[in-house]
Amino acid sequence: MSKLDDVLNLAKIKGYFWPSFEIYGGVSGFYTFGPLGTYLQRDIEELWKDIFVKPFGFIEMDSPDLLPYQILKASGHVDNFKDPMAECKKCGAKYRADHLLKEAGVEVSEGAEPYYLEALLNQNKVKCPKCGGQEWSVKLYLNMFETNIGPYAENKGYLRPETAQGIFVEFNSLYNYNREQLPMGVVQIGKGYRNEISPRQGLIRLREFHMMELELFIDPQEEDAPDLPDDQKLRLLHEKARESGEPEELTPKEAYQKGVIKTKWLAFFLYLSKKFLSSIGVPDEKQRFFEKIAGERAHYSAQTFDHEVFIDELGWTEVAGFAYRTDFDLKSHMQATGKEMYAIKRKALSTKTSVIINREELMKRENWKELIEMKPEVRADGVYLGSIRLNDKEYKVIQEVEKEEIRKFIPHVIEPSFGLDRLTLVALYYAYNKKEGRNIFSLPKGLLKNVVAVLPLVSKDEFVKKALEVRDILVNYGFNVIFDDKGYIGKRYARLDESGVPFAITVDSKTLEDETVTVRDRDSWSQDRIKIRDLPSYLRERTNWRL
Ligand code: GLY
Repeated sequence: MSKLDDVLNLAKIKGYFWPSFEIYGGVSGFYTFGPLGTYLQRDIEELWKDIFVKPFGFIEMDSPDLLPYQILKASGHVDNFKDPMAECKKCGAKYRADHLLKEAGVEVSEGAEPYYLEALLNQNKVKCPKCGGQEWSVKLYLNMFETNIGPYAENKGYLRPETAQGIFVEFNSLYNYNREQLPMGVVQIGKGYRNEISPRQGLIRLREFHMMELELFIDPQEEDAPDLPDDQKLRLLHEKARESGEPEELTPKEAYQKGVIKTKWLAFFLYLSKKFLSSIGVPDEKQRFFEKIAGERAHYSAQTFDHEVFIDELGWTEVAGFAYRTDFDLKSHMQATGKEMYAIKRKALSTKTSVIINREELMKRENWKELIEMKPEVRADGVYLGSIRLNDKEYKVIQEVEKEEIRKFIPHVIEPSFGLDRLTLVALYYAYNKKEGRNIFSLPKGLLKNVVAVLPLVSKDEFVKKALEVRDILVNYGFNVIFDDKGYIGKRYARLDESGVPFAITVDSKTLEDETVTVRDRDSWSQDRIKIRDLPSYLRERTNWRL
């Protein structure tokens, strides 16, 4: 069995995820997440927000999964969101044409035309995986799930293929909320749906999946991006480098200055993405950024990089896409609805300064009658009436804009988009190892950070009672506690190591004497003896509760 098979098996046994609906024979492209998978996904999500969202004051929103036809027609998805579908002329089985070719060892780029794919399949006598037939026809297939909204066939709708459109159509409200400031980052974490033709790669190609998307709206004339790091390299298989097949190692600053990455924010996001993947345990040398060229990119993108992770059994595998969407989406929705979606920037060209005298304060002076007739004069060191310099309470300076330039424009969008299911698999894949014949998911300690096990050493009443007290304390502190009092303690530890639970807390005879417990570390197997009351702070420190 390959490492990937081992990981998928263990993930299923241990309650991370497994193919859905198995009692009905299963339907490919759907996965169910169990308790540990759900915790792990949430922690990956939190970590992502800690790196991509919170430091920049970006905002989050939540829009419907079902979109009316008009939105996806305007966004170009109805016309472009299509995959090449090969149909076996003998048995009628249907597959992704480019995937069939790749599996048969015929290299073909994404975005190749159906007639070309059909010719390649037939010339290379590619066999139908179902019946062995060798004759194919290829056509484009719209891969969105279609439905009706309400009982009217004409009210067509689609499950969203990306969360992004729910953000774009609400631009005006979000821009208002953000006090009309750019850059404005808007995040949506939720499900996306694609009616894949024939998904055969388990969790890697799902029909219903979790996405974390960030749409960053910028002023294209003034990006206002953070300074780009110049001390860390990104492995970029950019458009030029693809000719030789060798990635070029550039810092984000170099990549932007050399024009390899078109916008500063995109370069910055690639840097953040590498940091993010490192923190879920993916080694640097197993990461690269792959640029998609025209024809391979989505219809809305002027530049796309995929963040790829190497998985031995699958090769380079996309876990995130970064697209420079320009003003494509907002412009399309404006054209379709006639509703304006502009950002406004004002720049003062000239200002007028005026002084208002506070008469009440001035009247405290003896010569106020004489002073009040004078015209105030603003000098470098203050405001004067004749030769008298006024104190701060006696006047107010008002500056008014006399002439201003108002620039109305459609913001451009830079989009990082992450597949959360794949990230969960990748985290487990790189966490999987063996120690003394035992399988362990050695996840970084920031993952499953709220999950602990509480174990009475033996299942005697007084131990169980105390262990339940410890469990209640930890639950009150927000931990998810696995309570296990069944079987020999060594076996329970082994089960927890395999599950990837970072810490096991054991109640023993000493606990009953001095209110201490042992805390066993999943990776080192070493144990610390800790006072029960210090447990929450000890665990939070060890698990980087907040990164
Ligand atoms: N929004 C990015 C994607 O659909 O892949």
